[in-house]
Amino acid sequence: MALVLVLWLSGLQLILAADHPSYVAAVYEHRVLLNPNPGVPLDRRSALEHMKQNLRVFEEQTALAAQQGAQIIVFPEDAIHGFNFTRASIAGYLETVPDPQKVTWSPCADPLRFPDTEVLHTLSCMARKNGLFLVANMPSRQSCNRTSDPRCPEDGQYQFNTNVVFSDQGIIVVRYHKQNLYFEAAFDAPPKCEYVTFTTPFAGRFGVFTCFDILFRDPALTLVKEMGIRQIVYPTAWMNQLPLLAAVQFQRSFSHATGVTLLAANVRAVEYGITGSGIFTPWDSLIHHDTEGNSGKLLVRRVPVLDPSIIGDRLKLVPFSGYQSSKEPENMHSWPTNSFNANHDGKYCQKDSECAEGTSSITFNSIMMYDNFTLVPLQGTEGNISICSGSVCCHLLFRRSDAREFYALGVFDGLHVVHGTYYLEICALVRCTGEHHSSCGGETEHAQTLIDFRLAGTFTTTHVFPGILGSGMTLDVPDHSGWEGGNEFYMSRTGMSAGLVTAVLYGRHYEKDKV
Ligand SMILES: *[C@@H]1O[C@H](CO)[C@@H](O)[C@H](O)[C@H]1NC(C)=O
Ligand SMILES: *[C@@H]1O[C@H](CO)[C@@H](O)[C@H](O)[C@H]1NC(C)=O
Ligand SMILES: *[C@@H]1O[C@H](CO)[C@@H](O)[C@H](O)[C@H]1NC(C)=O
Ligand SMILES: *[C@@H]1O[C@H](CO)[C@@H](O)[C@H](O)[C@H]1NC(C)=O
Repeated sequence: MALVLVLWLSGLQLILAADHPSYVAAVYEHRVLLNPNPGVPLDRRSALEHMKQNLRVFEEQTALAAQQGAQIIVFPEDAIHGFNFTRASIAGYLETVPDPQKVTWSPCADPLRFPDTEVLHTLSCMARKNGLFLVANMPSRQSCNRTSDPRCPEDGQYQFNTNVVFSDQGIIVVRYHKQNLYFEAAFDAPPKCEYVTFTTPFAGRFGVFTCFDILFRDPALTLVKEMGIRQIVYPTAWMNQLPLLAAVQFQRSFSHATGVTLLAANVRAVEYGITGSGIFTPWDSLIHHDTEGNSGKLLVRRVPVLDPSIIGDRLKLVPFSGYQSSKEPENMHSWPTNSFNANHDGKYCQKDSECAEGTSSITFNSIMMYDNFTLVPLQGTEGNISICSGSVCCHLLFRRSDAREFYALGVFDGLHVVHGTYYLEICALVRCTGEHHSSCGGETEHAQTLIDFRLAGTFTTTHVFPGILGSGMTLDVPDHSGWEGGNEFYMSRTGMSAGLVTAVLYGRHYEKDKV
């Protein structure tokens, strides 16, 4: 039993445990070569010439990954064709991906079976030649019947943002059509949400979804919560947005909160703020985030198998339950110190009802990532502060190395409506970028203040993603986290070596997305 607890605490120790199965995973952050005029239709030959430039890089990187023992490699969303096409202008790029539930096909072994499938052929040969599972994203078409399918588009075909998974034999094992499109004029959402999984001989089952999907219930949450999937392949093309939604920041939170291994491959397009990939276990990660460099990056890492059908129930990873530890209750429970009361009288509160009144003189509003947060500044080097909005109340206990940098505790309970519609319940401790209130919510990757904290919030959702971001995009996870007294979720972290940029409890209330 003690052994299990140790394993629980460290993915690394888990890998080192000789009897725990593991595999080698790779993700490639690709600096996509873009079509400079994506709005102008290209003939098939020119589109193929463009895509081959990207596929040549895939070929090199797949071989390099295989040399390092990789058994599966994930490539990013949009990394073969680029982005910003219209429905018409992408035509030359489209291939039909036959339904792998109906036909078993290795395009590499049998290239002439279906016409106009050069991209599938190239990817299939990469997988087969290097003997690994390969996950790639490409644009696809699928004809439909307007008489029998009311959702069938006028031109008689769906156009999908599609992930295709190839086995180590080059056989197409699954295809997934992206559900939650992010302003992608070229593509249709599938007529029904697809819950796609595939099984590998080395690690059992993996689930598949793409980019923006990570913020929504279907298919992402259903895969991990209802279907028990503990390993996800995740092609993405994610624009960073601090302080809450940088690519690796939310990838870290998703993997930790849901107890899954996430193989996240992002595009590199620095001019659009797109970078940030990683191989995440619930406990630790190998990441790449580079806003300046101009080349791709291959990440390869051995990770523990988490599929319960292979490892049994030796690791019960319950999504959104938090991570208690065998250590004694956090030392922060043994606060308070009297100095709180003496120095900051009236700037914290004992009850939520008093909180609103007690702190009203110093609360302020600031726009964070298009949402109107209510915030309260941190004062002094330690304190106990609260802030409420709607049904969400946030409580922060902190002590910090010094009080020079401006930090605030913010709360938001509402529907986010810019660049997507989704309901949020958020408690966030942020480093403000300047001295003014309006700088709270601004973007910075840097902070010098070391902060020990315990952040808690009352939520009406059970889906809370904790996240801790340190200076220089260093990712962290809580020492402790979990539910207390029913609707309060907390996390605590002490002894970080990097200055704190953001500590957030990011609650998603999926049921309230459509109002
Ligand atoms: C894509 O479209 C957006 C908005 O229309 C534009 O700002 C951006 O420059 C375009 N990117 C590319 C690669 O064409
Ligand atoms: C479309 O569906 C209708 C009704 O099911 C059928 O009669 C028709 O033959 C189909 N058309 C094509 C082109 O498959
Ligand atoms: C912090 O304040 C909350 C009420 O807002 C109170 O319940 C808690 O005991 C305080 N904690 C400490 C350590 O002072
Ligand atoms: C944010 O909310 C506050 C309080 O409701 C309001 O006074 C303020 O005008 C809002 N700010 C913006 C920019 O909408």
